[in-house]
Parts: sequence; C-alpha cells; structure tokens
Amino acid sequence: CPADSQAAVLLTGQVLRFGGDPFVDGVSAADHNRVGAVLIRGGHIADVGDAATLRAAYPDVTVVDYGDHLIVAGFVDAHVHYPQTGIIASWGKRLIDWLNTYTFPEEMRFADRAYADEVAARYLDLTLNHGTTTVASYCTIHPESVDALFAAAQARGQRIVAGKTCMDRDTAPDGLRDTAQSAYDDSKALIERWHGVDRLTYAITPRFSPTSTPDQLRALGTLWGEHPNVLMQTHLSEQVDEIEWVKSLYPQARDYLDTYEAYGLLRAGGLYGHAIHLEQREKDRLKEVDASLIHCPTSNTFIGSGLFDMAGLSAEGLRIGLATDTGGGSSFSMLRTMASAYEVAQLRHHPLHAAELIYLATAGSARALRMEDKVGNIAPGMEADLVVLDLQSTTDIAQRAARADDIWEALFPTLMMGDDRAIAAVWMNGTCRKGVSV
Ligand code: GUN
Ligand code: ZN
Repeated sequence: CPADSQAAVLLTGQVLRFGGDPFVDGVSAADHNRVGAVLIRGGHIADVGDAATLRAAYPDVTVVDYGDHLIVAGFVDAHVHYPQTGIIASWGKRLIDWLNTYTFPEEMRFADRAYADEVAARYLDLTLNHGTTTVASYCTIHPESVDALFAAAQARGQRIVAGKTCMDRDTAPDGLRDTAQSAYDDSKALIERWHGVDRLTYAITPRFSPTSTPDQLRALGTLWGEHPNVLMQTHLSEQVDEIEWVKSLYPQARDYLDTYEAYGLLRAGGLYGHAIHLEQREKDRLKEVDASLIHCPTSNTFIGSGLFDMAGLSAEGLRIGLATDTGGGSSFSMLRTMASAYEVAQLRHHPLHAAELIYLATAGSARALRMEDKVGNIAPGMEADLVVLDLQSTTDIAQRAARADDIWEALFPTLMMGDDRAIAAVWMNGTCRKGVSV
C-alpha cells in the first residue's frame, strides 16, 4: 500500500464498472476501460475516466499504477453468519441436523464478548483478504455479538449490515433462546445504538420461522414498522424438509412466505436468503413488494439444498444478491461463490455471463441491500471500496487468460479458478488495506 492512503490518489489500470443491469440490458451494461483511472479523495470516488486524461487533470496527485490489473468495486457479500466462521466446512449434514450439530453449539459461545470480538476480527480480516468490503451478517441471539461485529467494522471504516438473530421457540436449544419481548427490546436498543452510525446499517433478524413463535415474528414486524429504514433479513425456502416443518408449525399459512407476510415481515428492505423452492404466489408477492432474494450457491450445494432459479427470478426483475452464507457455505471467497453460481446456473441450463457474475457480486448485491448509490460500483460520489484483480494470479489461470480475445474471456478464468492470490489490492473507504502498487 502507498504510505499515506488518506491523501487523494489516482489508481490506474483496467477499470470495469456498470452503467446498467446486465440481466436487463445485456453486456452493454458494463463499461470496460482498458487504460482507465479512478480518483479517490476523502473516502469517496471523485472521478473516473481515461488514465491519460485523469493524469493530466490531476498532475499533483499520487498515482498507483496497477498496470494490466482490473479495478472493480469491492465485493458485497449479502448473507453471512460471522459466528459460523469457526465451523465452516463441517462434514456430512443437511440443514436441520447441521444447525443442531455444528451451528447452535458454536453460536452459544458468543455469550462471551471476548470470543465474539476475536471471531469478528478474524472474520473481517479473512474476508478482506478475499476482496469483500461489505457484508450483511447474522449475529447470534446475544446482543454482545452484534456490538462485537459493529465495533470491529467501525474501527475498520467498513460498511456493513448486521443484526441480532432472534429465536424464541423451543425448536432452538436451551441457552440459545430469547423471548418475543427481549428480542424486540434488544433489537430496538441495538438499532438506536448502531443504525446509521458511520457506515453501519441494522437489519432486524428473525433467524427463520421454525425458530420463532408467531408472537416473536409479530413483535419484530412491529419493530420494523417503527423503524422503517432498517433492513430485515431472514431465511426462506432453503430445503424441502424445512418447508414441510414450517407448514406443520404454521398450519394456517398459505406458504412459507406467508409466515413472514402475516406478521409484517414482508416488504421492500427485506432480504430473503436462499429462496430456492418458491411457489408462484411467493414469487409474485416478493416481486410486488420489491423484496430482495439472496443467492447462496456454495451453501446450497454444500448443505444439499437445491438449485436457485437465477434465470427465472432475474427475468422477473427481482433484486438478487450473491452471498457466501458463511459457514453453511463452503468458502469465504466471492470469486469462488461466483464460480459456484455459474455451476448452479449451468445445472439449470442457463450459463451466466462473466458480466452477470461480477455484477451479482458487486452492484447486484448492493442493490439487494439497497445501497446501490453508495457501494458496489465505480462512479463519482460513491464510496471508495475497490478491489484490484490480478487476472494472471496463478500459472493455471495465466495460461488460459493469455489466449483471451476480450475482457470477458480474460476475466472468466479468474472468476472460475481464482482465490485470494487474485486479489492484488483492496481499498476500503478510500484507504489501501491489502496489496502493493505494481
Ligand atoms: N436457516 C436457519 N438458520 C440457518 C443458518 O444458520 N444457515 C443456513 N444455511 N440456513 C439457515
Ligand atoms: Zn444463512
């Protein structure tokens, strides 16, 4: 990193950004500049254009030349559970057994603030190394676990979304339950403490209908009504067994989505994770209210959940974000997650274009989190969260990229095979946090 990252700085290299949505406008939604530049000042992007033009316009500014590397927006991971960092890649279970065997015992440890601080710091360091600059994270039922993550992100100048996971039903184990009232009170206090402070956004977080009573869902719906600008995150129709379980616990509900809808938990600003096995009514309602769906492909294959219908849902214009779902997902890397999204779409006979993949991981996820005017793209006025991709980071990738005829063919091998070695640099909030100038 340059010595003084706070001053204005001009990054030069290839630059890829979006003027539209490639799922709607096709590849022309992307703008690629072979010899481009991005001017960063005061934590924001001040100018974007040709390298020669910007060098001439800002002759006194420090230049960091990234050569042939590709500058894109920092990755936005729209659904994670930071407390599951330590149990990622746990073997052999499907969703409900996986929660009971691995997840819930680990989440109990977050009653200890010191442990929460340690894992929050580790998680943010690990993901920054992979180029992730924004996450939307579940915490645990413990308010301390939320304080730990927000405090760690605030110290790093990071834009994140987080919320206290709420579970009051006896389907959750002893030691990992709140009540309808305490979930309301604790979430409200956390909203007042953190929402809108620096770059922090609160999300009301009922884990999913099976671990909440109707009273708790109603209390959280009321809270959301009282704080309409916060987000709401939960899980929806991830596994077939889970959907059967929801039907048995909520016999009056028309479908899984109705368990949220009936209690004020369905509207714009709602983030619905997984959303694989949707009925037509659910799709229609999600579209009508302009809700966001979050695709978690490595999780859906790792836990054996199913294949998200990207082609069908993106055609309906829904806001769709991309996410690792750490630690149900099997990787911290959004590059690996893009590869998995490609593979899942292939199994549904719909090859996603490289432009669509990188859009999902940046502007698409930002749009799902309703932050598309702040992060996820490169444009004047936006916050300076950037990733610099080395498109030849390993010999495997380089030998394929060397025969590319255009930027998409040059980028695709990195999306399919890249790891943290492809993340040459990361700028967050206008400050260089990984990498050296080349
Ligand atoms: N459904 C409810 N909780 C979870 C979780 O922690 N991970 C995943 N993948 N699905 C869930
Ligand atoms: Zn999840």
